[in-house]
Amino acid sequence: MIKNAVVPVAGLGTRLLPATKSQPKEMLPVAKKPIVQYVVEELAGSGVQEILFVTGRGKDAIENHFDHDPNLLALLSATGKEDLIDELAFENLNTRFLYTRQSVQRGLGDAILCAEPFVAHAPFIVALGDSIIGLQERSTVCARMSEVLERHQAAAVIAVEPTSREQVSLYGVVKPETDGDIFAISDLVEKPTPEDAPSNLTIVGRYVFEPVIFDMIRRLKPDRHLEIGLTEAIRMLCETGHRVMGMKLQPCEPRYDIGNYPSYFETFVEFALADPKYGPRLRERLAGMLAAEED
Ligand code: UTP
Repeated sequence: MIKNAVVPVAGLGTRLLPATKSQPKEMLPVAKKPIVQYVVEELAGSGVQEILFVTGRGKDAIENHFDHDPNLLALLSATGKEDLIDELAFENLNTRFLYTRQSVQRGLGDAILCAEPFVAHAPFIVALGDSIIGLQERSTVCARMSEVLERHQAAAVIAVEPTSREQVSLYGVVKPETDGDIFAISDLVEKPTPEDAPSNLTIVGRYVFEPVIFDMIRRLKPDRHLEIGLTEAIRMLCETGHRVMGMKLQPCEPRYDIGNYPSYFETFVEFALADPKYGPRLRERLAGMLAAEED
């Protein structure tokens, strides 16, 4: 089992302005929790023991969120609000947090390269800090991908999800060599037009890599936006004869992308409706609002 994970959270989140002007997009709430807390809980559930956040300017709130706050605990106890202490249970996950910074936002590939001293020579997981996997059940996709990496002696395993043709242009898309839930990948294309997409399988923001990915990232030149992409680096793995595997998410673990407003709004509502305490009332209120609109 892979013990190390890298969570890049240094991006500027410009598609979610103005909400992200002075707060990290990864700290935007989805129902009761910030997005990045779902990511960390998922990784801890997959056996990850150390998480390196690749952060940037203005991202201190992430560091504060995962730190213990003895003053807050003391205040909750002293004011008889012990029931709220349960809301901070995530502070006691069996996970160690480390932080490094990407000074200039040169793309996801460059952010991953910042993690090289942390992972040293061992395989590692990458989980994007702005994507949640699974609603009711905590996803174990990263643990399953780690097994696939070992079993197939692959250099990378990428989690993917079937997506509608219109949506493929928002994501990286893989070209599978065979059918099935686990398959070899021969090529990848970043944000293709629906006509150029090699399949409908889009990359969902969970990866497992051997350290050879760093060599590929280093070889890449920045694109026209001056960014170094991760999809390009994985593509180079394929081109240089390394084995790259794909793994489909199961139907019970849908992917929620928080990078744009339509998707963020829908995700918030879906998670809020699933909240055991507040969901039922919200469902009634929404039904009332929709009925009133129709009148
Ligand atoms: P995105 O490309 O969706 O994030 O990266 P972004 O650049 O913040 O978004 P926009 O386009 O400006 O709205 C996916 C993940 O990779 C991280 C982001 O923080 C996000 O969690 N990322 C992206 C970095 O850490 N560094 C980068 O240079 C780019």
